[in-house]
Amino acid sequence: MGTISIGFEDFAKPENGDLVVFVGEDMAAGGAAAAAYPELGELIGRVAATERFKGKSGGVLAVPAPAGLDGIDRLLVVGLGSESDRTKGEWMKLGGILAGKLSGRTALVAADLPGVDDPAEAAAEMALGARLRAYTFDRYKTKKKPEEAESDGDTTLVFACPDPEAARRADAPRSGLAAGVNLARDLVNEPPNVLFPAEFARRAEALRELGVAVEILEEADLLRIGMRALLAVGQGSGHGSRVAIMRWNGGAAEAQPVAIVGKGVCFDSGGISIKPSGGMEDMKGDMAGAATVVGLMHALASRKAKANVIGAIGLTENMPDGAAQRPGDIITTLSGQTVEMVNSDAEGRLVLGDVLWHVKETYRPAFMVDLATLTGAILVALGQEHAGLFANDDTLAENLLAAGRATGETVWRMPLGKAYDKMIDSKFADMKNTGGRHGGSVTAAQFLKRYVGDVPWAHLDIAGTGMNAPASDINTSWGPGWGVRLLDRLVRDHYEG
Ligand code: BES
Ligand code: MN
Ligand code: ZN
Repeated sequence: MGTISIGFEDFAKPENGDLVVFVGEDMAAGGAAAAAYPELGELIGRVAATERFKGKSGGVLAVPAPAGLDGIDRLLVVGLGSESDRTKGEWMKLGGILAGKLSGRTALVAADLPGVDDPAEAAAEMALGARLRAYTFDRYKTKKKPEEAESDGDTTLVFACPDPEAARRADAPRSGLAAGVNLARDLVNEPPNVLFPAEFARRAEALRELGVAVEILEEADLLRIGMRALLAVGQGSGHGSRVAIMRWNGGAAEAQPVAIVGKGVCFDSGGISIKPSGGMEDMKGDMAGAATVVGLMHALASRKAKANVIGAIGLTENMPDGAAQRPGDIITTLSGQTVEMVNSDAEGRLVLGDVLWHVKETYRPAFMVDLATLTGAILVALGQEHAGLFANDDTLAENLLAAGRATGETVWRMPLGKAYDKMIDSKFADMKNTGGRHGGSVTAAQFLKRYVGDVPWAHLDIAGTGMNAPASDINTSWGPGWGVRLLDRLVRDHYEG
């Protein structure tokens, strides 16, 4: 796998590799690069005219070995669009585009950006986008085509900025954030024979190196505590279930923690209510919620977030052996409420119900947010553009909507209500685990709501956004690590000093 290394320096004429300069629709290529190469403006003007390059945001013009620009292999002119295009998200996207064009190469990026308010922030955002774009998951490929071997080589980007020290300061937390997103991606991409619950728990334990307290609950612990619903999901699998509790205490000792909970079904065959075989391999990604929680804890710990955050993940595998649960089984959950299990493929809510209740009772959090690849129905409703947001608290919902707009990891609020809640009443138990086809994402959320009491709570259904991601400027990975940036932002904007 190619690595990316990123630096921030003062401008110095490059001796080899590529030179990147920016041009907005409203500006000529200026700054140190233009001063160092008097021919630059004329060259860009000529090539831009021929290529009808107007400086649209994200547009790239490549000039191989330009005459007059000594020692430079290639000049890349990157469009910055108009002034209103130059938002934060746009810089991240530009960084992604750059990393895509420069994969396996060395480049100096002239990031002195005349007319831009905060060039240090802009450079750091570009670096974030580049780190996200450079991610690849190829550890199981033993053969490579020669052209892949080249473009997968190591990439070096040096951002030349007016205040490199400020850019390094802005970059430090973002580099931990990128590592957290890329860790979440790794977990989602790993095959299910490798990443079973005990192995997933070990990966979570690795966060101890960053100062995160990690506690692993094994099957005997789960039984003792009474997480029978979570255990019921795993009882048809040869792999034991686990719960991992991660705690980052970066806030004041007396500050109430916030809790993030993730669905970690390492493989979802559907169980006895087995899924059709077409596309079933995708169900290795049914632990994307848990992956996001681990990635988030990594990001928070790396940047020493001033907040007390609990990450709790329910890890299990939904399989159909002779010990598997049967439709019709009635389970007594940790909360004491009983569930008639009518469809073993609606397993995520059983896992989360127990973990949410446990977290609520044990840690009394200020709020809980859960992430889960919970329902196919959310894909029908929202596609892959938004995660479904369900909440019993308007402030928390508003904060998540705002964090979504700020990061581009957007969420769309969905309804909850009494009439939906009624749809999961059962003839034989307190509730059943599905409410039928209609409003499938809503009835799943209503189920979870019965396990959160009066704690402010939001549920993010990430079945659409958390796996099988369409390629974008900042992501070419099947598992996108969705939600790490969103929740890092939520914590940063609302729960730190
Ligand atoms: N893990 C699936 C949901 C899912 C579907 C995630 C597609 C990602 C992509 C979940 O456990 C499930 O099987 N849900 C059922 C619920 C139904 C049985 C009520 C579903 O969506 O069909
Ligand atoms: Mn399922
Ligand atoms: Zn599932």
